[in-house]
Amino acid sequence: MSMINLKVNGKEIEVDVDPSTPVLWVLRDHLNLIGTKYGCGVGSCGACTIHLNGRALKSCQLPVSAVGKQEITTIEGLSENGSHPVQKAWLDTDVAQCGYCQTGQIMAAAALLKAKPHPTDEDIDNYMSGNICRCGTYVRIKEAIKTAAKSSN
Ligand code: FES
Ligand code: FES
Repeated sequence: MSMINLKVNGKEIEVDVDPSTPVLWVLRDHLNLIGTKYGCGVGSCGACTIHLNGRALKSCQLPVSAVGKQEITTIEGLSENGSHPVQKAWLDTDVAQCGYCQTGQIMAAAALLKAKPHPTDEDIDNYMSGNICRCGTYVRIKEAIKTAAKSSN
């Protein structure tokens, strides 16, 4: 175990963990930020997507020792009250079905729009291809991303 300093959702925190622990488990088990989900654990589903300095990243594949001073944002920190344009568009479009993959989808979509505020259909397909939805909500996900892009221009 070692003491590791992190910045999570704007707060400086210290955790006592094995440095090889994936960030996913630090968030869920040590910080009680359970919005970030465990799906596959091998980087294939995207359920665990967070932002590291604003870029989407699969937290199951990121050892906590590799974070350093980079800022972690989870779904809990994306906005204070669900007011991020992607979150609003998600609700307006009624995207979620079972909901399990949706944290990862929203975090990926928010990072996409930050990097590319007006993505094409192809941009959306490419960027979101690492986020799997077993309920098949892909059509609504794409619609919501387009709505969010329009609302934040
Ligand atoms: S749990 Fe991380 S990609 Fe599936
Ligand atoms: S909404 Fe069920 S897995 Fe995506």
